[in-house]
Amino acid sequence: MKHLMSPLDFSVEELEKLFDLAEHIAKNPIRYAHTCDGKVLATCFYEPSTRTRLSFESAMIHLGGKVLGFSDAANSSASKGESVSDTIRIISCYADICAMRHPKEGAPMVAAEKSRIPVINAGDGGHQHPTQTLTDLLTIRSLKGHLDHLTIGLCGDLKFGRTVHSLINALVRYEGIRFVFISPEELRVPDYITDMLKDKNIPYQEVIRLENVMPSLDLLYMTRVQKERFFNEEDYVRLKDFYILDTAKMELAGPDMLVLHPLPRVNEISVEVDDDPRAVYFKQAQYGVYVRMALILTLLGLEDSMENEK
Ligand code: NCD
Repeated sequence: MKHLMSPLDFSVEELEKLFDLAEHIAKNPIRYAHTCDGKVLATCFYEPSTRTRLSFESAMIHLGGKVLGFSDAANSSASKGESVSDTIRIISCYADICAMRHPKEGAPMVAAEKSRIPVINAGDGGHQHPTQTLTDLLTIRSLKGHLDHLTIGLCGDLKFGRTVHSLINALVRYEGIRFVFISPEELRVPDYITDMLKDKNIPYQEVIRLENVMPSLDLLYMTRVQKERFFNEEDYVRLKDFYILDTAKMELAGPDMLVLHPLPRVNEISVEVDDDPRAVYFKQAQYGVYVRMALILTLLGLEDSMENEK
């Protein structure tokens, strides 16, 4: 049985297959409308979410399956002190696959060890967010045509942003990748990541000013300052509007530079940028549904069920 804890759980070849399936689903959604008839997805969310949870639910519903779950730890037996290991044993009796988000790093992994059904990490603390990474990679592959030879700017909260950590981990496996980390000093990317990049000889640059690097980027991945992971409100207030991407800054970028954002957005992208064709963050959310459909089919072992018909 396969779980998804980190984007590295899939090899580059397996990812290609997953993305091919997601693109096939995007082009032929009706043909997949009953591939999960009779299957149930549980969404166990111990931390707030709109996109990820509803994206999983939308994915399962579009495959013909059904969904159940909880969207807040306060509404679950966690509030009575139940462990994730016990909860997943119970969920294994109710569902065929589970997407779990938890504020504690590693909690979905603990659940996976006791689970009788595939568990998908839907975000664990500041650690990993593999299905957002699959979404990001599919968006880049579909809109740029390739995942290699790209200069990628990551901007904002690079310290606490789990989407950033997951995406860097996944991208280092492609050739010719360069990173430009744009953050205030306090929100720099963690040392374990820069150490890993040094080990692998992957070029990266750390800067504070976004304007200076805009012309060199193929992609700009904007992120929100992660309010819920700050220890003190004052620091958050001081840093929250450090970056605001506006049309003036977009003028400094090349005509093909894409702007991605895992969302939710707070103030870091001005709404006037939404009309720029290079702003693809809403399209990215649509790719998120297709890639989660492909993932559910793959983890349930149903990915080849359409093979003869392709
Ligand atoms: C991200 C997350 O939860 O880490 N959101 C998401 O899943 N789309 C990013 C964020 O909350 O800033």
